[in-house]
Amino acid sequence: MNIRPRRNRKSKVIRDMVRETQVSLTDLIYPLFLVDGFDKKIEIKSMPGIFRWSLDNLLIEIEECVGLGLNAFVLFPAVDDAHKDTEASYSWSDDNFYLKAIREIKQRFPEVVLMSDVAMDPYSSDGHDGLVRNGVIVNDETLPILGRMAVKQAEAGIDIIGPSDMMDGRVGYIRESLDEAGYTDVSIMSYTAKYASAYYGPFREALDSAPKSGDKKTYQMDPANKMEALRELMLDTEEGADFVMVKPALCYLDVIALIKSNTELPVAAYNVSGEYAMLKAAGEKGWVDYNRAMPEMLLSIKRAGADVILTYFAKEFALMQKS
Ligand code: PBG
Repeated sequence: MNIRPRRNRKSKVIRDMVRETQVSLTDLIYPLFLVDGFDKKIEIKSMPGIFRWSLDNLLIEIEECVGLGLNAFVLFPAVDDAHKDTEASYSWSDDNFYLKAIREIKQRFPEVVLMSDVAMDPYSSDGHDGLVRNGVIVNDETLPILGRMAVKQAEAGIDIIGPSDMMDGRVGYIRESLDEAGYTDVSIMSYTAKYASAYYGPFREALDSAPKSGDKKTYQMDPANKMEALRELMLDTEEGADFVMVKPALCYLDVIALIKSNTELPVAAYNVSGEYAMLKAAGEKGWVDYNRAMPEMLLSIKRAGADVILTYFAKEFALMQKS
């Protein structure tokens, strides 16, 4: 035997030397849930360790994360039902607590990167990402709403707009709306291949944003398809996306790899709420070794081709690097 792969595994130093993939804190975006009010920190039942924060507490949390080396966050608003309507009008209202929070966070921490969510569902009484007319999610009439929402977020100081709605043509529409309003430097991270997945369950609990009727299959992608992801990639690229995203991550590692090999754009993957919940639950039961399984999960997403990972594990991962 003249070839023995085990020689490159014989000591820690050699293993470290030949390691092909690293997850670093600079790759991670930490999702944070925001509620209106003061002194709130409400744990999400299906996501132990993840909270809905009021702004005062969120600022403290962000400061702690920055201290650990995390500098990028994606913000999601949990909106009171009283503010929800069919047009998602609260999303561009001037007294929207989400917009106020963006302003204040950027003022306090100008160096952090903040990403938003653009979609109607947190603000919609129908719980859909687009406008519902006679039970149908109408595409083109949704676009001006998304455009307006994005411009308001840009005005508040957001760095990256995150359209998670999957309407056709929305990246181009949002790009034009931003440019017309003078926000040519605001980026777009498009949810390019977002699948109609069961793994969003805990997130919908966190925001109380589940669809009131029907499902999201007329806009989110069929989990069986990957050529269609390339079609979405082509469109988002032509429409001016700065990053392209695959979501969820774990069941779609092949899609991440496919997208990575077909674009020059940075590729992001969203390690979603259900993936977090699953691993947390198994760890709590003692059925998997959480402290090893969690970094392995992030590593696999990176190895598949993701440059950027949106993950609820970010803070714990950062804490692990310290110890
Ligand atoms: C909705 C949105 C969802 C997530 C991010 N934005 C859920 C959905 O499409 O129903 C899911 C994130 C997660 O599960 O962690 N615009």
